[in-house]
Amino acid sequence: MIDFMGEWKRTHTCGELGLGSIGREVILMGWVHSRRDLGNLIFVDLRDREGITQIVFDPQINGNAYYKAKQLKDEYVIAVRGKVYKRVEGQENPKLKTGKIEVRAEELRILNKSEILPFQIHGPVDASETLRLKYRYLEMRRHEVIDVFRLRHRISSFIRSYFDKNGFIEVETPFLTKSTPEGARDYLVPSRINKGKFYALPQSPQLFKQILMIGGFDKYYQIVRCFRDEDLRADRQPEFTQIDLEMSFVDEEDVMNVFESMLKGLFRDVLRYEIQTPFPRIEYEEAMGRFGSDKPDTRFGIEIKDITGIAKNTQFKIFQEAVNKGGKIKAIKVKDLGFSRKELEDISEEVKKYGAKGIIWAKVVKEDEWQSPIKKYVDKERKRLINQILDAVEGDLIIMVADSEEVAAKSLGILRKSLARRIGLIRERDFSFVWIRRFPLFEWNEEEKQYDPMHHPFTAPLDEDIDLLDKNPLKVRAKAYDLVLNGEEIGGGSIRIHLLELQKKIFDIIGIPEEEAERKFGFFLEALRYGAPPHGGMAIGFDRLVAIMAGKESIRDVIPFPKTTSATCPLTGAPSEVDQKQIEELGIKIVKEGK
Ligand code: AMO
Repeated sequence: MIDFMGEWKRTHTCGELGLGSIGREVILMGWVHSRRDLGNLIFVDLRDREGITQIVFDPQINGNAYYKAKQLKDEYVIAVRGKVYKRVEGQENPKLKTGKIEVRAEELRILNKSEILPFQIHGPVDASETLRLKYRYLEMRRHEVIDVFRLRHRISSFIRSYFDKNGFIEVETPFLTKSTPEGARDYLVPSRINKGKFYALPQSPQLFKQILMIGGFDKYYQIVRCFRDEDLRADRQPEFTQIDLEMSFVDEEDVMNVFESMLKGLFRDVLRYEIQTPFPRIEYEEAMGRFGSDKPDTRFGIEIKDITGIAKNTQFKIFQEAVNKGGKIKAIKVKDLGFSRKELEDISEEVKKYGAKGIIWAKVVKEDEWQSPIKKYVDKERKRLINQILDAVEGDLIIMVADSEEVAAKSLGILRKSLARRIGLIRERDFSFVWIRRFPLFEWNEEEKQYDPMHHPFTAPLDEDIDLLDKNPLKVRAKAYDLVLNGEEIGGGSIRIHLLELQKKIFDIIGIPEEEAERKFGFFLEALRYGAPPHGGMAIGFDRLVAIMAGKESIRDVIPFPKTTSATCPLTGAPSEVDQKQIEELGIKIVKEGK
């Protein structure tokens, strides 16, 4: 039998009653979290978003309610009227906010039943991710899941109010549009009214926000969904959210300052964590040299040092050969926690995945002495010099890689991270921000034999590098900056090109002929003709920021309804087939795979 809620109104949530409420008559509503039948008494833990309250059904108080409570099962939805009592001494539950009291039920209404659950939703997680996503609403009943979304909400509320106070206007930009290239494939939407034509879902609002600047909006922001058809990983979803911003009459520092002060306020307000500003600013070249990555984890040191000058003159063949081929010898140093030969071999295997041939290790025994497979090839003076460059002393382990500059740096870049984790250098709740700037404007695409923009084609070159556009495009640096937090790229932006001729020239360099530029971006080139102000901006990956703040490994944990790594939604079954009629209306034909 299901009861009506009737005239009952909730008086409290399940998380708020305490000693101050003793003697009060209350009505609570929620889910049966658990039930214990002790024969003469039935205890029910009643749960809602805010907490859990213990309800006691006692035949002495109300026989009807007591017998009805015998039917209750997990996740039934109930309403209870009763009185608040102090729990008997020794029966308090210090883990619950409401652990000092209980409600003795005078009346029970069963508002809905629940079938047996497809997996256990409370306690340890023991279901596969697909099953959990299929029943996402059940998983959401866990308090730790709701708490993540509360945090997400607090973060977005703070951001909205911060930008509002600082004169930014939130403007919505279209989803059914022509896309801006951001390095991924577009999601396309066929048009029914204009058969054979397609909208693209935006990879970002890039061109619209630039157009808003041309429209004189001056300071724009938007918390906005973006769509990218790309290979998915823990930090990538096909639809994700950006904190997107654009400003007029600004330089790089202005944009970076806005984000720094927003983040400082956000971490203080939401996490009670003080972050130091200004964040370090490192040029791309330097980041690659010191950390072997353009998204360095700066929570720990272990910086990469170039020892080519000294190591090339040793008797060790691999060093000589690498240098003769134009390569470099690079090294890092960590505390030697007694790494065994087997562990060192594992480390060597790890770098092979990144194209290196392996590592050469040396344990520092004395200022000029090593324990190392290559110790007899390196004289004392050179050992001393290498130790000195790395600041290595007795009890340290040096790891060297001799290869092309790129492979040596990248493989040590990966190793410094995995070693830091292994040695326990990464503290929880440590947040280390760094700006990486002055990226190359272009990178060489060997497959297509052309220059590709490293960010997007609307990024401005440094003023002093404009001359190089004709002479040596790969040497041109961009007015671009990425924001890195704990080794993850959480945002990126740039000062844009606001001059038509320069924009056309960039399209030309990246091999987009005038006719194609006109077809794809004609509307934007047109807008650049009518007094476009100098402008720039940036976007932060909101999901990535929330995941790091919530201490979660994957952005799927902080997105209410995420997709799996194969871009499906187990809850709704999307993507799915559609009715033939719908397809016909769109004027498109499905070709079955293999036909
Ligand atoms: P960008 O492409 O670097 O820049 O994107 C900005 C930030 O968005 C996040 N991000 C993603 N998060 C989850 N899933 C994805 N698939 C995904 N792709 C990107 C990253 C990234 O740093 N229009 C420019 C910004 C600008 O120049 O103003 C842009 O979109 O954290």
